[in-house]
Amino acid sequence: MFLTKIKTPFSFIIFGASGDLARLKLFPALYELAFQRRFPEEYVVLGFGRTPMSDQEFRKRVSEGVHGKFGKKTDAKALNSLLGHCFFFHGQYDEQGDYEKMARRLADLHNGKKAECAAYFGVPPPVFKPIIERLAGVRFALGEKLKIILEKPFGENEASAVDLFHFTSRFFKSEDVFLLDHYLGKSSVQSILPLRYNNAILNMLLKGNVISNIQINALEDVGIGKRIGYFESVGIIKDMIQSHLMQILALFAMSLPVKPDTASVRREKVNLFSALRYGDKPCGIVLGQYKSYKREEGVAKGSKTTTFAAVRFNIDLLDWYQVPVYIRTGKRLNRHHTYVTVEFKKPAFQQTDKKIESNKLIIELFPEEKIQIRLVNEEGKLVTKIREVISAESLACTGDDCLPEHGRLILDAFLGNPSHFLSFEEIIACWRFVDSLMACTTKHGVPVVSYADGGEGPADQHRLIRQDGFEWHDPSK
Ligand SMILES: NC(=O)c1ccc[n+]([C@@H]2O[C@H](COP(=O)([O-])OP(=O)(O)OC[C@H]3O[C@@H](n4cnc5c(N)ncnc54)[C@H](OP(=O)(O)O)[C@@H]3O)[C@@H](O)[C@H]2O)c1
Repeated sequence: MFLTKIKTPFSFIIFGASGDLARLKLFPALYELAFQRRFPEEYVVLGFGRTPMSDQEFRKRVSEGVHGKFGKKTDAKALNSLLGHCFFFHGQYDEQGDYEKMARRLADLHNGKKAECAAYFGVPPPVFKPIIERLAGVRFALGEKLKIILEKPFGENEASAVDLFHFTSRFFKSEDVFLLDHYLGKSSVQSILPLRYNNAILNMLLKGNVISNIQINALEDVGIGKRIGYFESVGIIKDMIQSHLMQILALFAMSLPVKPDTASVRREKVNLFSALRYGDKPCGIVLGQYKSYKREEGVAKGSKTTTFAAVRFNIDLLDWYQVPVYIRTGKRLNRHHTYVTVEFKKPAFQQTDKKIESNKLIIELFPEEKIQIRLVNEEGKLVTKIREVISAESLACTGDDCLPEHGRLILDAFLGNPSHFLSFEEIIACWRFVDSLMACTTKHGVPVVSYADGGEGPADQHRLIRQDGFEWHDPSK
């Protein structure tokens, strides 16, 4: 079997290596890459942080992260091999001298031989800038090709995203900056463009003149848990809609460039994001907060942070004229289900006495990754019954060479493949739209409605969609 591998010696620096993201996502991803033998013989994983830790203590953390994900399935040989490459450097994010010492330590670990270097930012956004600047100061000591991988969120509004863009550009070329949204590492999400490129029928169908509406749902049954500190300051629109769900919309609704190179795809995404228009009806937003949220540790007493949002908007492009888009996302609901439903218009000649479902194209991202097309048939001789005919196909990666989202994306970053990463232009265009949403909620004083834990969310979500004559679609029904 041919596996995409990293062939040259490398260093992988993890800033914030004592944090949750590193433990939950990065260590398991590195383990899977090691398990699948995608690393060269010579590489170094270097945790960097303010928490004093020996190499042994760091290895223990890596091991715990891996066991936490894979449990008894952990392959001891692969894990031990990875641990043998893991080291820790205790330093301050704003001390240039610490970066110089770190670069010397890396050179020693590589016995003075040349190695490529990628630095992963597993730290909160306020720490991005000090690291970017100081890391650039030791670029040459770290090897000629230094890449940085930043995980979303990128700023908290358009202005701060523009500021981060300008700051980053002072120190790094755009091709060395990998802006990661882990949704773009999902197998089903990565399938959307190839499906569109390879199937003329899909592109004939993905046109506003035959589609009645698009619904994007990311419904979760869990609460915010340990992410309260971050979540309290952003809320669900900035956490979920701003990047994850808008990216999915773009993959469905953007024009397909003739060549799917990264620059052309990014250009079309920016075009789509720039055409999002919000608000002919008062606000078109429903906001909510689950009942027990205020009792979560770290939540301010009168917190108005939103844990549910349903939003209605349009795409101001001729192709999507008057096709409403609905995005609905929430925490602590009655199910964990992420899916996109594209609902087609019913034929004008259809007999109105028959209650016939519209045709639908559905892509599910969780719990299953699959594509479905729903047609309608009539059956029965004496009494005609209308029945949905469902054709479904898995989009999940199967086989021994599948990788988790972070594993895929880290590998891509190392190999210099930017196609599943974001550009600052996209991020800024997304923020512009999200800023307009946020401004509207403030202007109209959209209430944050309390909803029952484990329920379906605020009742007004139905008003939002019924005003256009539609219903929220649930593919599991
Ligand atoms: N957790 C997730 O699943 C997840 C998912 C997607 C995106 N993200 C994003 O990824 C980033 C890291 O997430 P995380 O959950 O790992 O964050 P975290 O646990 O709060 O922070 C990670 C590490 O950064 C350092 N740090 C924290 N606050 C700092 C501060 N104010 N100044 C300097 N250093 C500080 C700490 O390490 P030391 O004190 O040892 O230096 C900490 O262990 C965040 O931007 C988050 O939004 C997280």
